[in-house]
Amino acid sequence: MNILILGSGGREHTFAYQIVKSKLCSKLFVAPGNAGTAAIATNLPLDVNDFESIQASVIANQIEMVVVGPEDPLVQGIANYFAEEEALQEVMLIGPSKRGALLEGSKERAKEFMLQHNIPTAAYASFTAESLEAGKAFLETLQAPYVLKADGLAAGKGVLIIQDVEEAKTELGEMLSGKFGDASATVVIEAFLDGIELSVFVLTDGKNYKILPTAKDYKRIGEGDKGLNTGGMGAISPVPFADETLMKKIEERIVKPTVNGLKEEEIDYKGFLFIGLIKVGDEPYVIEYNVRMGDPETEVVLPRIKTDLVTLLQATFQQKLDTISMEIDERAATTVMLVSGGYPEAYEKGKEISGIDTVEDSIVFHAGTSVKENKLVSNGGRVLAVTSLDEDYRKALKKSYKNIDKLHFDRMYYRTDIGFDLE
Ligand code: AMP
Ligand code: GLY
Repeated sequence: MNILILGSGGREHTFAYQIVKSKLCSKLFVAPGNAGTAAIATNLPLDVNDFESIQASVIANQIEMVVVGPEDPLVQGIANYFAEEEALQEVMLIGPSKRGALLEGSKERAKEFMLQHNIPTAAYASFTAESLEAGKAFLETLQAPYVLKADGLAAGKGVLIIQDVEEAKTELGEMLSGKFGDASATVVIEAFLDGIELSVFVLTDGKNYKILPTAKDYKRIGEGDKGLNTGGMGAISPVPFADETLMKKIEERIVKPTVNGLKEEEIDYKGFLFIGLIKVGDEPYVIEYNVRMGDPETEVVLPRIKTDLVTLLQATFQQKLDTISMEIDERAATTVMLVSGGYPEAYEKGKEISGIDTVEDSIVFHAGTSVKENKLVSNGGRVLAVTSLDEDYRKALKKSYKNIDKLHFDRMYYRTDIGFDLE
Protein backbone atom coordinates (compact mmCIF):
# COMPACT_ATOMS: atom_id res chain seq x y z
CA MET A 1 0.00 0.00 0.00
CA ASN A 2 0.98 3.65 -0.41
CA ILE A 3 1.63 5.40 2.89
CA LEU A 4 1.88 9.06 3.88
CA ILE A 5 3.65 10.35 7.01
CA LEU A 6 2.79 13.88 8.17
CA GLY A 7 5.56 15.95 9.75
CA SER A 8 9.13 17.04 9.12
CA GLY A 9 11.35 16.16 12.09
CA GLY A 10 13.57 13.38 13.38
CA ARG A 11 10.47 11.55 14.53
CA GLU A 12 9.09 11.45 10.99
CA HIS A 13 12.42 10.41 9.45
CA THR A 14 12.50 7.53 11.94
CA PHE A 15 8.95 6.50 11.02
CA ALA A 16 9.94 6.65 7.35
CA TYR A 17 13.08 4.58 8.00
CA GLN A 18 11.01 1.82 9.64
CA ILE A 19 8.02 1.94 7.31
CA VAL A 20 10.03 1.85 4.09
CA LYS A 21 11.44 -1.53 5.23
CA SER A 22 7.97 -3.07 5.41
CA LYS A 23 6.84 -5.52 2.75
CA LEU A 24 3.41 -3.94 3.01
CA CYS A 25 4.70 -0.54 1.91
CA SER A 26 4.72 0.12 -1.83
CA LYS A 27 5.26 3.88 -2.09
CA LEU A 28 6.11 6.12 0.83
CA PHE A 29 5.37 9.85 0.99
CA VAL A 30 6.30 12.34 3.69
CA ALA A 31 4.73 15.80 4.01
CA PRO A 32 6.51 18.14 4.22
CA GLY A 33 9.50 15.98 5.25
CA ASN A 34 13.17 16.94 5.25
CA ALA A 35 16.35 15.99 3.35
CA GLY A 36 16.52 12.68 5.25
CA THR A 37 13.03 11.62 4.26
CA ALA A 38 13.61 12.81 0.67
CA ALA A 39 16.41 10.25 0.37
CA ILE A 40 14.11 7.28 1.15
CA ALA A 41 10.63 8.55 0.23
CA THR A 42 8.86 11.24 -1.80
CA ASN A 43 8.40 14.53 -0.01
CA LEU A 44 5.15 16.39 -0.67
CA PRO A 45 5.03 20.15 -0.04
CA LEU A 46 1.93 20.10 2.17
CA ASP A 47 1.00 21.96 5.34
CA VAL A 48 0.09 19.36 8.00
CA ASN A 49 -2.90 21.47 9.07
CA ASP A 50 -4.33 21.93 5.56
CA PHE A 51 -6.71 18.95 5.49
CA GLU A 52 -8.18 19.73 2.07
CA SER A 53 -4.80 19.70 0.37
CA ILE A 54 -3.89 16.53 2.26
CA GLN A 55 -7.13 14.94 1.04
CA ALA A 56 -6.38 15.90 -2.58
CA SER A 57 -2.90 14.44 -2.30
CA VAL A 58 -4.12 11.24 -0.64
CA ILE A 59 -6.54 10.67 -3.50
CA ALA A 60 -4.09 11.62 -6.25
CA ASN A 61 -1.38 9.31 -4.87
CA GLN A 62 -3.74 6.46 -3.93
CA ILE A 63 -2.58 6.59 -0.34
CA GLU A 64 -4.14 3.98 1.96
CA MET A 65 -2.51 4.83 5.28
CA VAL A 66 -1.69 8.19 6.89
CA VAL A 67 0.55 8.33 9.96
CA VAL A 68 0.30 11.64 11.82
CA GLY A 69 3.54 12.75 13.50
CA PRO A 70 2.84 16.02 15.36
CA GLU A 71 -0.03 16.89 17.72
CA ASP A 72 -1.33 19.98 15.95
CA PRO A 73 -3.36 18.33 13.17
CA LEU A 74 -4.70 15.81 15.71
CA VAL A 75 -5.90 18.55 18.05
CA GLN A 76 -7.40 20.27 14.96
CA GLY A 77 -9.36 17.09 14.22
CA ILE A 78 -7.66 15.43 11.25
CA ALA A 79 -8.92 12.00 12.36
CA ASN A 80 -12.50 13.27 12.42
CA TYR A 81 -12.02 14.86 8.99
CA PHE A 82 -10.83 11.54 7.54
CA ALA A 83 -13.68 9.63 9.21
CA GLU A 84 -16.29 12.03 7.84
CA GLU A 85 -15.14 12.63 4.25
CA GLU A 86 -16.77 10.17 1.86
CA ALA A 87 -13.65 9.82 -0.31
CA LEU A 88 -11.42 9.05 2.69
CA GLN A 89 -13.54 6.36 4.34
CA GLU A 90 -11.14 3.54 3.46
CA VAL A 91 -7.97 5.41 4.40
CA MET A 92 -6.34 4.19 7.61
CA LEU A 93 -5.47 7.29 9.57
CA ILE A 94 -3.22 6.57 12.56
CA GLY A 95 -3.94 9.13 15.25
CA PRO A 96 -6.69 9.86 17.79
CA SER A 97 -9.92 11.77 17.18
CA LYS A 98 -10.24 15.37 18.34
CA ARG A 99 -11.72 14.27 21.67
CA GLY A 100 -8.80 11.89 22.18
CA ALA A 101 -6.29 14.58 21.24
CA LEU A 102 -7.69 16.84 23.98
CA LEU A 103 -5.65 14.75 26.41
CA GLU A 104 -2.72 16.76 25.07
CA GLY A 105 -4.64 19.81 23.81
CA SER A 106 -5.99 20.70 27.25
CA LYS A 107 -4.06 20.09 30.47
CA GLU A 108 -7.27 20.71 32.43
CA ARG A 109 -9.08 18.02 30.44
CA ALA A 110 -6.17 15.61 30.98
CA LYS A 111 -6.27 16.22 34.73
CA GLU A 112 -10.04 15.70 34.83
CA PHE A 113 -9.64 12.45 32.89
CA MET A 114 -7.01 11.21 35.34
CA LEU A 115 -9.15 12.13 38.33
CA GLN A 116 -12.20 10.47 36.78
CA HIS A 117 -10.34 7.23 36.11
CA ASN A 118 -8.27 7.13 39.29
CA ILE A 119 -4.94 7.57 37.55
CA PRO A 120 -2.16 8.80 39.88
CA THR A 121 -1.10 12.38 39.16
CA ALA A 122 -0.17 15.53 41.11
CA ALA A 123 -2.97 17.31 43.03
CA TYR A 124 -4.20 20.34 41.09
CA ALA A 125 -6.74 23.09 40.63
CA SER A 126 -7.41 25.23 37.56
CA PHE A 127 -8.15 28.93 37.26
CA THR A 128 -9.24 31.58 34.76
CA ALA A 129 -9.03 35.40 34.83
CA GLU A 130 -12.27 35.46 36.84
CA SER A 131 -10.79 33.26 39.56
CA LEU A 132 -7.34 34.89 39.74
CA GLU A 133 -7.70 35.73 43.44
CA ALA A 134 -8.71 32.16 44.26
CA GLY A 135 -5.65 31.02 42.28
CA LYS A 136 -3.36 33.19 44.36
CA ALA A 137 -4.96 31.84 47.54
CA PHE A 138 -4.46 28.29 46.24
CA LEU A 139 -0.76 28.98 45.67
CA GLU A 140 -0.50 30.01 49.35
CA THR A 141 -1.69 26.54 50.37
CA LEU A 142 1.08 24.79 48.38
CA GLN A 143 4.77 24.28 49.11
CA ALA A 144 7.48 25.61 46.79
CA PRO A 145 8.29 25.06 44.01
CA TYR A 146 5.06 26.05 42.24
CA VAL A 147 4.04 24.42 38.96
CA LEU A 148 1.96 26.57 36.58
CA LYS A 149 0.73 25.11 33.31
CA ALA A 150 -0.99 26.84 30.41
CA ASP A 151 -4.06 24.72 29.62
CA GLY A 152 -3.61 24.74 25.84
CA LEU A 153 -0.80 24.00 23.38
CA ALA A 154 2.05 26.46 23.89
CA ALA A 155 4.83 24.96 21.76
CA GLY A 156 6.38 23.23 24.78
CA LYS A 157 6.83 26.51 26.64
CA GLY A 158 3.65 26.56 28.71
CA VAL A 159 4.97 24.98 31.93
CA LEU A 160 6.64 27.20 34.54
CA ILE A 161 8.26 26.00 37.73
CA ILE A 162 8.79 28.84 40.16
CA GLN A 163 10.48 28.93 43.57
CA ASP A 164 9.00 32.08 45.06
CA VAL A 165 5.30 32.33 45.91
CA GLU A 166 5.03 36.06 45.11
CA GLU A 167 6.67 35.50 41.75
CA ALA A 168 4.28 32.59 41.12
CA LYS A 169 1.29 34.87 41.83
CA THR A 170 2.59 37.51 39.43
CA GLU A 171 3.24 34.88 36.78
CA LEU A 172 -0.28 33.48 37.24
CA GLY A 173 -1.68 36.96 36.61
CA GLU A 174 0.42 37.33 33.46
CA MET A 175 -0.51 33.91 32.12
CA LEU A 176 -4.22 34.57 32.68
CA SER A 177 -3.96 37.89 30.89
CA GLY A 178 -2.55 36.32 27.75
CA LYS A 179 1.15 35.57 28.20
CA PHE A 180 0.67 32.48 26.00
CA GLY A 181 -2.37 33.84 24.15
CA ASP A 182 -5.51 31.71 24.34
CA ALA A 183 -3.44 28.75 25.55
CA SER A 184 -3.13 30.32 29.00
CA ALA A 185 -6.71 31.62 29.36
CA THR A 186 -6.97 28.70 31.79
CA VAL A 187 -4.03 27.78 34.02
CA VAL A 188 -3.57 24.53 35.89
CA ILE A 189 -1.65 24.85 39.14
CA GLU A 190 -0.32 21.60 40.49
CA ALA A 191 1.72 20.17 43.33
CA PHE A 192 5.40 19.72 42.54
CA LEU A 193 6.48 16.10 42.29
CA ASP A 194 10.07 15.41 43.21
CA GLY A 195 11.47 12.42 41.40
CA ILE A 196 13.00 11.08 38.20
CA GLU A 197 11.20 11.24 34.86
CA LEU A 198 10.60 8.58 32.26
CA SER A 199 8.26 8.11 29.33
CA VAL A 200 6.13 5.16 28.40
CA PHE A 201 4.73 4.82 24.90
CA VAL A 202 1.56 2.95 24.13
CA LEU A 203 0.04 1.99 20.81
CA THR A 204 -3.71 1.55 21.23
CA ASP A 205 -6.63 0.78 18.95
CA GLY A 206 -9.07 2.08 21.56
CA LYS A 207 -9.71 -1.43 22.90
CA ASN A 208 -6.36 -3.19 23.08
CA TYR A 209 -2.90 -1.84 23.64
CA LYS A 210 0.79 -2.63 23.24
CA ILE A 211 3.34 -1.08 25.55
CA LEU A 212 6.29 0.02 23.42
CA PRO A 213 9.85 0.39 24.74
CA THR A 214 10.33 3.00 27.49
CA ALA A 215 12.56 6.03 26.98
CA LYS A 216 14.08 8.91 28.85
CA ASP A 217 14.76 12.21 27.14
CA TYR A 218 17.03 15.08 28.08
CA LYS A 219 15.22 18.37 27.60
CA ARG A 220 17.61 21.06 28.82
CA ILE A 221 20.12 22.70 26.50
CA GLY A 222 23.00 22.53 28.99
CA GLU A 223 25.00 19.70 30.51
CA GLY A 224 23.74 18.46 33.87
CA ASP A 225 20.18 19.42 32.81
CA LYS A 226 20.86 23.14 33.13
CA GLY A 227 19.59 26.05 31.06
CA LEU A 228 16.61 26.47 28.78
CA ASN A 229 14.11 23.80 27.84
CA THR A 230 14.43 22.45 24.30
CA GLY A 231 12.50 19.99 22.17
CA GLY A 232 14.97 17.33 23.40
CA MET A 233 18.76 16.95 23.29
CA GLY A 234 18.98 13.19 23.43
CA ALA A 235 17.24 10.02 24.58
CA ILE A 236 17.88 6.53 25.88
CA SER A 237 15.81 3.35 25.61
CA PRO A 238 15.08 1.29 27.65
CA VAL A 239 15.08 3.30 30.87
CA PRO A 240 17.44 1.32 33.14
CA PHE A 241 15.41 1.93 36.31
CA ALA A 242 12.10 0.92 34.70
CA ASP A 243 12.31 -2.59 36.11
CA GLU A 244 9.59 -5.22 36.07
CA THR A 245 8.06 -4.04 39.37
CA LEU A 246 7.79 -0.42 38.21
CA MET A 247 6.47 -1.44 34.77
CA LYS A 248 3.80 -3.61 36.40
CA LYS A 249 2.64 -0.63 38.49
CA ILE A 250 2.63 1.58 35.39
CA GLU A 251 0.61 -0.94 33.41
CA GLU A 252 -1.93 -1.68 36.16
CA ARG A 253 -2.38 1.81 37.57
CA ILE A 254 -1.87 3.95 34.49
CA VAL A 255 -1.96 2.20 31.11
CA LYS A 256 -4.99 -0.04 31.73
CA PRO A 257 -7.13 2.66 33.40
CA THR A 258 -6.22 5.07 30.60
CA VAL A 259 -7.25 2.70 27.80
CA ASN A 260 -10.35 1.64 29.76
CA GLY A 261 -11.16 5.32 30.30
CA LEU A 262 -11.00 5.98 26.56
CA LYS A 263 -13.31 3.01 25.98
CA GLU A 264 -15.76 4.02 28.71
CA GLU A 265 -15.97 7.55 27.39
CA GLU A 266 -16.37 6.20 23.83
CA ILE A 267 -13.39 8.16 22.59
CA ASP A 268 -12.15 7.06 19.19
CA TYR A 269 -8.42 6.53 19.71
CA LYS A 270 -6.31 4.64 17.20
CA GLY A 271 -2.77 5.78 17.61
CA PHE A 272 0.15 6.46 19.87
CA LEU A 273 -0.13 7.66 23.43
CA PHE A 274 2.95 9.07 25.13
CA ILE A 275 2.70 9.04 28.91
CA GLY A 276 5.14 11.37 30.66
CA LEU A 277 5.79 9.95 34.11
CA ILE A 278 7.68 10.83 37.21
CA LYS A 279 8.80 8.21 39.70
CA VAL A 280 8.49 9.55 43.24
CA GLY A 281 10.10 7.07 45.61
CA ASP A 282 8.91 3.82 44.03
CA GLU A 283 5.60 5.12 42.76
CA PRO A 284 4.77 6.33 39.23
CA TYR A 285 2.68 9.49 38.62
CA VAL A 286 1.52 10.94 35.32
CA ILE A 287 2.90 14.39 34.47
CA GLU A 288 1.28 14.64 31.08
CA TYR A 289 -0.22 12.82 28.15
CA ASN A 290 0.86 13.47 24.59
CA VAL A 291 -1.22 12.01 21.80
CA ARG A 292 1.69 11.25 19.49
CA MET A 293 5.18 9.84 19.72
CA GLY A 294 7.91 11.95 21.35
CA ASP A 295 10.84 13.52 19.59
CA PRO A 296 13.70 12.50 20.09
CA GLU A 297 12.23 9.46 21.91
CA THR A 298 10.98 8.01 18.62
CA GLU A 299 14.58 7.87 17.41
CA VAL A 300 15.33 5.29 20.15
CA VAL A 301 11.94 3.58 20.53
CA LEU A 302 11.11 2.62 16.92
CA PRO A 303 14.54 1.18 16.03
CA ARG A 304 14.02 -1.34 18.88
CA ILE A 305 10.70 -2.62 17.53
CA LYS A 306 11.44 -5.68 15.41
CA THR A 307 7.83 -6.37 14.44
CA ASP A 308 6.84 -4.92 11.07
CA LEU A 309 5.60 -1.41 11.88
CA VAL A 310 3.00 -1.29 9.10
CA THR A 311 1.51 -4.57 10.35
CA LEU A 312 1.22 -3.03 13.80
CA LEU A 313 -0.36 0.16 12.44
CA GLN A 314 -2.80 -1.73 10.24
CA ALA A 315 -3.89 -3.83 13.24
CA THR A 316 -4.31 -0.60 15.19
CA PHE A 317 -6.69 0.82 12.62
CA GLN A 318 -8.59 -2.46 12.39
CA GLN A 319 -8.81 -2.76 16.20
CA LYS A 320 -7.00 -6.07 16.06
CA LEU A 321 -3.92 -5.25 18.10
CA ASP A 322 -4.73 -8.24 20.34
CA THR A 323 -3.94 -10.59 17.45
CA ILE A 324 -0.36 -9.36 17.01
CA SER A 325 2.65 -10.24 19.10
CA MET A 326 5.37 -7.65 19.26
CA GLU A 327 9.07 -8.40 19.27
CA ILE A 328 11.51 -5.96 20.86
CA ASP A 329 15.25 -5.75 20.28
CA GLU A 330 16.95 -6.47 23.61
CA ARG A 331 19.73 -4.00 22.85
CA ALA A 332 19.74 -0.47 24.20
CA ALA A 333 19.34 2.50 21.88
CA THR A 334 20.61 6.03 22.39
CA THR A 335 20.32 9.17 20.37
CA VAL A 336 22.23 12.45 20.62
CA MET A 337 20.84 15.61 19.01
CA LEU A 338 23.07 17.95 17.08
CA VAL A 339 21.65 21.44 17.26
CA SER A 340 22.36 24.86 15.78
CA GLY A 341 24.43 27.22 17.96
CA GLY A 342 22.07 29.56 19.84
CA TYR A 343 19.13 27.11 19.94
CA PRO A 344 16.58 27.20 21.62
CA GLU A 345 16.88 30.96 21.17
CA ALA A 346 17.92 32.64 17.90
CA TYR A 347 20.08 30.54 15.58
CA GLU A 348 21.11 30.53 11.94
CA LYS A 349 20.00 28.06 9.28
CA GLY A 350 21.54 27.09 5.96
CA LYS A 351 24.85 25.76 7.35
CA GLU A 352 26.44 23.09 5.20
CA ILE A 353 26.55 19.66 6.87
CA SER A 354 29.45 17.31 6.20
CA GLY A 355 30.54 13.83 7.23
CA ILE A 356 27.29 11.88 7.12
CA ASP A 357 28.64 9.34 4.60
CA THR A 358 31.54 8.51 6.94
CA VAL A 359 29.25 7.41 9.78
CA GLU A 360 29.61 3.73 10.68
CA ASP A 361 27.29 1.61 12.82
CA SER A 362 25.00 4.49 13.80
CA ILE A 363 21.89 5.84 12.10
CA VAL A 364 21.70 9.54 11.34
CA PHE A 365 18.11 10.76 11.48
CA HIS A 366 17.47 14.18 10.00
CA ALA A 367 15.55 16.56 12.26
CA GLY A 368 15.95 19.93 10.51
CA THR A 369 17.70 19.68 7.15
CA SER A 370 17.15 20.57 3.52
CA VAL A 371 19.03 20.46 0.26
CA LYS A 372 20.13 23.80 -1.26
CA GLU A 373 22.14 23.95 -4.49
CA ASN A 374 22.87 20.25 -4.17
CA LYS A 375 24.26 20.65 -0.68
CA LEU A 376 22.86 19.29 2.57
CA VAL A 377 22.22 22.22 4.93
CA SER A 378 20.74 22.81 8.36
CA ASN A 379 17.15 24.01 8.37
CA GLY A 380 16.13 24.18 12.04
CA GLY A 381 17.26 24.34 15.65
CA ARG A 382 17.53 20.60 15.98
CA VAL A 383 19.44 19.35 12.95
CA LEU A 384 20.46 15.68 13.23
CA ALA A 385 19.89 12.85 15.70
CA VAL A 386 22.62 10.21 15.87
CA THR A 387 21.15 6.89 17.03
CA SER A 388 23.12 3.79 17.99
CA LEU A 389 22.25 0.36 19.33
CA ASP A 390 24.42 -1.82 21.55
CA GLU A 391 24.39 -4.19 24.53
CA ASP A 392 23.91 -1.35 27.00
CA TYR A 393 23.31 2.38 26.76
CA ARG A 394 26.90 3.28 27.63
CA LYS A 395 28.25 1.33 24.68
CA ALA A 396 25.56 2.70 22.41
CA LEU A 397 26.36 6.27 23.49
CA LYS A 398 30.03 5.70 22.81
CA LYS A 399 29.18 4.77 19.23
CA SER A 400 27.02 7.85 18.77
CA TYR A 401 29.73 10.17 20.14
CA LYS A 402 32.44 8.50 18.03
CA ASN A 403 30.38 9.14 14.90
CA ILE A 404 29.49 12.68 15.96
CA ASP A 405 33.22 13.45 15.83
CA LYS A 406 33.01 12.92 12.09
CA LEU A 407 30.05 15.25 11.58
CA HIS A 408 30.30 18.98 11.13
CA PHE A 409 28.37 22.15 10.53
CA ASP A 410 29.12 25.70 11.60
CA ARG A 411 28.26 26.28 15.29
CA MET A 412 27.13 22.67 15.79
CA TYR A 413 26.37 21.97 19.48
CA TYR A 414 25.41 18.85 21.42
CA ARG A 415 25.37 17.60 24.98
CA THR A 416 28.20 15.24 25.87
CA ASP A 417 26.46 13.96 29.02
CA ILE A 418 23.31 12.20 27.80
CA GLY A 419 22.48 9.55 30.45
CA PHE A 420 24.46 11.38 33.14
CA ASP A 421 21.77 10.89 35.81
CA LEU A 422 21.58 7.13 35.33
CA GLU A 423 25.03 6.36 36.74
P1 AMP B 1 5.43 19.42 30.09
O1 AMP B 1 5.53 20.62 29.20
O2 AMP B 1 4.07 19.10 30.58
O3 AMP B 1 6.21 18.26 29.52
O4 AMP B 1 6.24 19.79 31.41
C1 AMP B 1 7.55 20.22 31.30
C2 AMP B 1 8.35 19.68 32.43
O5 AMP B 1 7.92 20.26 33.66
C3 AMP B 1 8.21 18.19 32.66
O6 AMP B 1 9.02 17.45 31.81
C4 AMP B 1 8.67 18.10 34.10
O7 AMP B 1 10.08 18.13 34.15
C5 AMP B 1 8.16 19.35 34.71
N1 AMP B 1 6.90 19.14 35.45
C6 AMP B 1 5.66 19.21 34.98
N2 AMP B 1 4.76 18.99 35.96
C7 AMP B 1 5.47 18.76 37.08
C8 AMP B 1 5.12 18.47 38.44
N3 AMP B 1 3.85 18.38 38.84
N4 AMP B 1 6.12 18.27 39.31
C9 AMP B 1 7.41 18.39 38.92
N5 AMP B 1 7.81 18.67 37.68
C10 AMP B 1 6.84 18.86 36.76
N1 GLY C 1 10.53 14.95 23.87
C1 GLY C 1 9.35 15.48 24.37
C2 GLY C 1 8.26 15.59 23.42
O1 GLY C 1 8.29 15.08 22.32
O2 GLY C 1 7.26 16.21 23.77
